[in-house]
Amino acid sequence: MKIAIIGSGYVGLVSGVCLAHIGHQVICVDNNPEKIKKLKKGELPIYEPGLLELMHECVKKKRLSFSGSVKDASAKAEVIFLAVPTPSKPNGDADLTFIENVAREIAQSMDSYKLIVEKSTVPAETGKKIRRTIQLNLPRKFKQGHKILLDFDVASNPEFLKEGSAVHDFMNPDRVVLGVESARAEKLLREIYKPLKTKILVTNTASAEMIKHASNSFLATKISFINAVAQMCDRVGADVIKVAEGMGLDKRIGRQFLDAGIGYGGSCFPKDVEAFIHLSDKSGYNFSLLKEVRKINDHQRLAFVKMIEEKLWNIKDKTIGVWGIAFKPNTDDIRNAAALEIIHLLQAEGAKIKAYDPKAADHARKALKGVAIAQDPYEAAEDCDCLLLLTEWPEFREVNFVQVRDAMRQAVIFDGRNFLDGDQLKECGFDYYGIGRGRS
Ligand code: UGA
Repeated sequence: MKIAIIGSGYVGLVSGVCLAHIGHQVICVDNNPEKIKKLKKGELPIYEPGLLELMHECVKKKRLSFSGSVKDASAKAEVIFLAVPTPSKPNGDADLTFIENVAREIAQSMDSYKLIVEKSTVPAETGKKIRRTIQLNLPRKFKQGHKILLDFDVASNPEFLKEGSAVHDFMNPDRVVLGVESARAEKLLREIYKPLKTKILVTNTASAEMIKHASNSFLATKISFINAVAQMCDRVGADVIKVAEGMGLDKRIGRQFLDAGIGYGGSCFPKDVEAFIHLSDKSGYNFSLLKEVRKINDHQRLAFVKMIEEKLWNIKDKTIGVWGIAFKPNTDDIRNAAALEIIHLLQAEGAKIKAYDPKAADHARKALKGVAIAQDPYEAAEDCDCLLLLTEWPEFREVNFVQVRDAMRQAVIFDGRNFLDGDQLKECGFDYYGIGRGRS
């Protein structure tokens, strides 16, 4: 199948590379010339495990190419996936300007049947707006009064991959959701996903759009639920790790997404929860549960900083080491990372921050003013009054904690992800504090 992917970010690139890998002919498009230049040279503009090797393999097999032109790529493809950003507007609504611009551009150069597929997360009913934009912008020869003479389809095929395990998630999905309005669109999309041999759920476009927003909001709700339980655990002397384990053994609940910590971040959950709240308000329904989910998430960061303040006494002029800046491990992405907010809150109190992240250092240098970026975990810990673990990178379990303890001014660790072995650290002479581990 000939496929164009418009937007070469995390979702677009991973989808493009994986679709090429399973046998399709794919062109990945981006309007950032630097990005396309890099991709053509065989370099990735993002860090995602396993993606580079797969990309090289697909380029070598001549199944994958890159272009800066929506027009050229869509002319060559029958199926066009939209994977452009849908950021939040200041009022929380999803900004769909990129989607509209690309739809217009595709329409203007259309001269045969095309299937346009939403891959980006968009509010329900965006499909209808894309259809209208395409109708309005088709070349004159395809319009006769109100009649449209060129057949095309708009479908929704939300992506459920997670950054850090994106290639694996794309190739091994729990389900593929197809939101279609015609048998032709369904047939094409089924054909595309056939090699994945997975469960395919077919519905209409609005329901597919809703499945994506509802799924992300539900996962965010699970995280906020366990974070609220963690607050309770601290107050009654219970351990949230055991509580999550006990809850998770019930198959109806499941253990995943029950890790308490400093709250969810990234480019998806905060934006999607916000957009879903906005959509429900606009539709006349007050989805108050989601408003509380957002509030609990914000509270986790504030509560973490308050705990540090309680233990360190004054924050002003204290030196604080940070391990992990990315919004989760195995990515260089720092968008809406909990670490950024916590660092800003501590800086506002007058703390000096030294931070280390295995992959996100370059992004962090640009985003964080007045933070010393360390070369390794030891440098970040040196002469610090405490150490914060904010992203659970596996390498933080491998460090020599005796060396870390001896380098620090005070051997105090606040583990924002309940990732380190607290008992072992206490034995080694650290004061160790996790989230919801029963400090009463
Ligand atoms: C999320 C969804 O999990 C994907 O299914 C979806 O496709 C994607 O958004 C998207 O809409 O594009 P992602 O944001 O890449 O994926 O990463 P997650 O693994 O879901 O983590 C999101 C945030 O939640 C991270 O900050 C993580 O640390 C936090 N989290 C996750 C917790 O605090 N506790 C948990 O138990 C799980």
